[in-house]
Amino acid sequence: MEKLTGLKKIKTAVFISGTGSNLKNIIKFSKLEKSPISIDLIVSNTNKAKGLSFADQFKIKKKIFNFKDIKKNILLLKKEKIRFICLAGFMKILSKDFIRKFDGRIINIHPSLLPKYKGLNTHSRAINNKDKFAGCTVHYVTAKLDSGKIIMQKKIKIAVKDNPASLAKKVLQQEHKLYPAAIKKVFN
Ligand code: GRF
Repeated sequence: MEKLTGLKKIKTAVFISGTGSNLKNIIKFSKLEKSPISIDLIVSNTNKAKGLSFADQFKIKKKIFNFKDIKKNILLLKKEKIRFICLAGFMKILSKDFIRKFDGRIINIHPSLLPKYKGLNTHSRAINNKDKFAGCTVHYVTAKLDSGKIIMQKKIKIAVKDNPASLAKKVLQQEHKLYPAAIKKVFN
């Protein structure tokens, strides 16, 4: 990937659809000196995303995107000088055109050990299959769902007593560690 580092932090947008615990965690990380990125925009596909409240809390711009109008979205991101995008609990599938415009500059966190369990309900699928391990993956976003190059992964043990909710909680804790580490790796 083109070297994006320099003296200034790279202007980054985080795309969310829900709670935004990863968003909050990335914002906190971005404020550290060692962070290569700053969070300058929060984007959601729905105004119901709870995580939008972090925009007010941290005084970051927020936008609701209608993902049908790609040109308008790209223009807006350009206007804000966004050069990197982190998807964090973002439930919409980005169009090929959008991904092409930001080729190699969009990353995502997925709650499974990819290439296992692309898509939804990863934790119940892992438990139903009696897997010994679960985890999370940060990867580049390509036109093929959850299939881009893996940046980093964290593996955890599934306990016998785990259910999808307890496993989701444990994996989410790991996601909060993994995402900042993966962002650092991208820019190293
Ligand atoms: C995370 O588990 C993420 O991997 C998945 O959805 C969840 C979002 O959590 N895609 P949050 O909105 O960051 O709290």
